Amino acid sequence: MHTVLLTLPVLLLSSPSLAQTFKPAPGNFPAKGDGDFAGGIFSISLQDLPKYVGDGGTGTETPRGNGQKTSGSGPYPAQMITDPTLPNHTIFAPKTPPTGNLSMPFIAWGNGACTLGAGTYENFLKEIASYGYVIAADGTPNGGSSTSQQSKVQDMRDSLDWATAGKAAKYGNVDVTKTTTAGHSCGGLEAMSTAYHDERVKRIMLFNIAIFQDDRRYLLQEIKVPVAYIIGGKNDMGYPTSAKDYAALNAGLPKFRANLDTGHGGTYPATNGGKFGKAAVAYLEWQWRNNATAKAILLDAQSPGSLVKDNWVVEHANWS
Ligand SMILES: *[C@@H]1O[C@H](CO)[C@@H](O)[C@H](O)[C@H]1NC(C)=O
Ligand SMILES: *[C@@H]1O[C@H](CO)[C@@H](O)[C@H](O)[C@H]1NC(C)=O
Ligand SMILES: *[C@@H]1O[C@H](CO)[C@@H](O)[C@H](O)[C@H]1NC(C)=O
Repeated sequence: MHTVLLTLPVLLLSSPSLAQTFKPAPGNFPAKGDGDFAGGIFSISLQDLPKYVGDGGTGTETPRGNGQKTSGSGPYPAQMITDPTLPNHTIFAPKTPPTGNLSMPFIAWGNGACTLGAGTYENFLKEIASYGYVIAADGTPNGGSSTSQQSKVQDMRDSLDWATAGKAAKYGNVDVTKTTTAGHSCGGLEAMSTAYHDERVKRIMLFNIAIFQDDRRYLLQEIKVPVAYIIGGKNDMGYPTSAKDYAALNAGLPKFRANLDTGHGGTYPATNGGKFGKAAVAYLEWQWRNNATAKAILLDAQSPGSLVKDNWVVEHANWS
């Protein structure tokens, strides 16, 4: 996880030669979410970043660092592979299509700092895939943590186009009506920017991040699907901003926010993605499979294995 943390100063870096074409102003809703910076319209320029990052401290929760590599704890042992039909991306999916023609939701993922190194999230994304999900992440397994090249909204859109065209079918029965965009840090802002004005996206998950700049928060009016913020507590740069976004979402929109004291790095490299892996699986299982056990883990503090018992601070509203 140090790789991600070390790249924080350039978390949202875009080419300085790129002139800013999108001018945020109330009522100014661009047609697409691409924007001028890595991470799209919900993101910021490098120049603005130091004002928002905080002290970068980590929290008390462990383990956060590299754990064992497994095939995930779910019923469908998962793999990390590349696929020539979606270059410059990495697929996380069950090693063999689940028996019984199980319907599998689709997820497009963006990495922290919008790097092209999907392997950083191997443990976390295999954990999700092992419950019967197909994930297309930006970048390659060994893409590393350099920010000399960064993913853009178009990279995540390429994942949606790929799945929508039926090209994920070799991994099993992928149901693109159950599509989530998700990502860590800059990748989370990219997930929201990709979802903006793209009705294929039905759920958005932001990990350790939310909109930095108050003058862009009005763009949330155009977000019409449930949003989950999975955040690293008070040391996380996403902590104050996700509180503001959570409050600013359209009235009545189902929303979920959970904080665990990890700081900005979460627990992604821990075995099976650690507590962030468990929380992500439970949220997805609730949303896409109406799994009552998973819902209770998230919403009922008294339930066995609830997030609250795992030290998460949970907020939610507008769920039926
Ligand atoms: C699997 O289910 C989908 C619908 O969810 C259906 O279109 C497809 O034909 C099924 N495939 C098999 C092999 O049963
Ligand atoms: C991979 O994607 C990045 C980000 O969009 C881009 O800069 C790079 O040129 C791509 N590489 C290849 C080999 O397509
Ligand atoms: C329901 O969700 C829980 C918690 O995420 C998971 O462990 C379990 O495997 C799921 N059950 C089914 C039947 O998918």
